[in-house]
Amino acid sequence: MKYGVYHQVVQLGHSCFDNADSFKILFMIFLNRMNLTNNSTEYGFISKTFHWLSAVALILQIPLGFYLVDLDFNETRLTIESIHVVVGLSIFYLTILRLIYKIFNPTPSLGNSVFPGQKLIATMNHVLLYLTILTITISGAFKKLFNGEILDLFFFNLEIKDNFELAEIFYDIHIISNYCLIALISLHILAVIAHKVLFKENLLKRIL
Ligand code: HEM
Ligand code: HEM
Repeated sequence: MKYGVYHQVVQLGHSCFDNADSFKILFMIFLNRMNLTNNSTEYGFISKTFHWLSAVALILQIPLGFYLVDLDFNETRLTIESIHVVVGLSIFYLTILRLIYKIFNPTPSLGNSVFPGQKLIATMNHVLLYLTILTITISGAFKKLFNGEILDLFFFNLEIKDNFELAEIFYDIHIISNYCLIALISLHILAVIAHKVLFKENLLKRIL
């Protein structure tokens, strides 16, 4: 599937009036410059897409959750809650797919440590990010289920016997794990900034 760049540019010229072809060729040029899958040192296109889809969804979902709890019970609130649940469940399935993909694809090794324990901290940050996202989504789902609501899990509907005490506990877990996620994301972003400012190392290009 590898085309020479010259060959691609000539083809692009031939088909400049055909948008679909031009798009296909531009996409191939783009893919030629980026691996689809990871190798031992670089993230590929699939991992990068997983990363940025999850990041954007989470950055929208966290404020949406906090906004939701302050709303009065009316139609708007129900609509926003449904959006919150659909986005949340999508994040859950995306994370499961991402973790399955991670089993079959090497994780690029981190660069040289700039201080002792750096690799361990980075790995712990990544593991905890995954665990927290799963905890948030699963606790959100159980909160609704133990409230006696039917949950549409996209592929099937689920309903269990209500238990309001457990619903409260899962709601607390949902809130606490959200604060943990905010702290972990902040650390994650601060680390990228610290590497750039203090160690003159551009980590961001590993995931772009
Ligand atoms: C907002 C939610 C975000 C989450 C949940 C998140 C999560 C993750 C996870 C789990 C990894 C490890 C991927 C793996 O190997 O399995 C990772 C890698 C990375 N993320 Fe994020 N990320 C987020 C946002 C960001 C942002 C905003 C930036 C940029 C400032 C960023 C920069 C990076 C970089 C540079 C790596 C590669 C680290 C390396 O291996 O050297 N992330 N992210
Ligand atoms: C990563 C995904 C998710 C994030 C980041 C998230 C975030 C939040 C946040 C920040 C709140 C406000 C908590 C508070 O201060 O009281 C909230 C509330 C809530 N979330 Fe999520 N959530 C996610 C997934 C889910 C899922 C999958 C469900 C259900 C299937 C769900 C159901 C709820 C419910 C029912 C509320 C409370 C609304 C209320 O009764 O006031 N969430 N969420």
